[in-house]
Amino acid sequence: MVLIENLVKTYNQGQNEVNALKGIDLHIDKGEIFGIIGLSGAGKSSLVRCLNLLETPTSGNIKIDDKDMIKLSKKELREARKKIGMVFQHFNLLSNSTIYENIAFPMRIDNKPKDYIDKRVKELLELVGLLDKKDMYPSMLSGGQKQRVGIARAIANNPSIVICDEATSALDPETTKSILSLLKDINKKLGITIIIITHEMDVIKHICNRVAILEEGKIAECGLVSDVFVKPKTKIARSFFDSVDVKLDNDVYKKALDGKGVVIKGIFIGETSTAPYISKMITKYNVEASILLGNIQHLDDTLIGTLVIKITGEDDNIQSAIKYLQENNVLVEEVNYES
Ligand SMILES: Nc1ncnc2c1ncn2[C@@H]1O[C@H](COP(=O)(O)OP(=O)(O)O)[C@@H](O)[C@H]1O
Ligand SMILES: [Mg+2]
Repeated sequence: MVLIENLVKTYNQGQNEVNALKGIDLHIDKGEIFGIIGLSGAGKSSLVRCLNLLETPTSGNIKIDDKDMIKLSKKELREARKKIGMVFQHFNLLSNSTIYENIAFPMRIDNKPKDYIDKRVKELLELVGLLDKKDMYPSMLSGGQKQRVGIARAIANNPSIVICDEATSALDPETTKSILSLLKDINKKLGITIIIITHEMDVIKHICNRVAILEEGKIAECGLVSDVFVKPKTKIARSFFDSVDVKLDNDVYKKALDGKGVVIKGIFIGETSTAPYISKMITKYNVEASILLGNIQHLDDTLIGTLVIKITGEDDNIQSAIKYLQENNVLVEEVNYES
């Protein structure tokens, strides 16, 4: 469990003050995969460095597993830090050490017995699928493999939290997917809380339960990924989730509005996305529907379908048809023409 209260971080640079974090409140549950997304400079890395206390917060509170992180002595802090695993964008591996030694490193620092380390490293190598690479050096591995080593190292000391700061930002889309699957696997198998810091919405959509959107040092919006995805409240959230912000081509739109009818955008969530509400609506209310745009996306384990349809028929019937969709949990918005 992570509890952040009114966290402020101000950097002093000579005469200048940089207000990187301006009062952050966040609550992250145990076992969650929690996403923090923001543009470059939003304060994401500052937040990470305050969380693991590599940086001293200017003010505010941080509690991890009920430990008041800011009040800990140096010794207690060293212990507490072991419970936070870090995964970095550029892997930060020891280039002159083998894969085996890279993963053993945090346990050696922790003075674990040799036999224990040997057993644990092999277990971790197996978990991340790199048993056959144990004697190689980082330069001999691909980016995805290097990040697997980074993840194995991060969980070596059985942390309760793993923080990934742009862990997939240097990887191609396919490798990103496999790394995210590995993180999800680890979350499920070991119950480790995972905090994903990224500037890429696809990463959030792929594995996170909840997301916080960081903008200029503040949380602009926070909630279930599906809620923020479907009903973004802020401009910044809309800009990240623009894939459902269906923009109709002017020509298509004008053509669609030729004659009678109403153009709506319907968002179908979960089971709603595969149920035949459109065909039922057509027969039930004696309307016609033509599909102008449509897509289905996966959000973690939830399916979200978006359809832009033109409904024609008697005005009353159209209104009843729309009401019918809404009663069946379809989110309906009228699409208005914007030139
Ligand atoms: N050590 C530092 N000293 C001074 N300013 C910093 C320092 N680290 C970050 N900043 C500033 O704080 C703001 C947030 O940066 P950062 O946390 O790195 O954002 P992000 O990770 O979202 O890109 C930026 O304006 C950045 O220039
Ligand atoms: Mg950063």
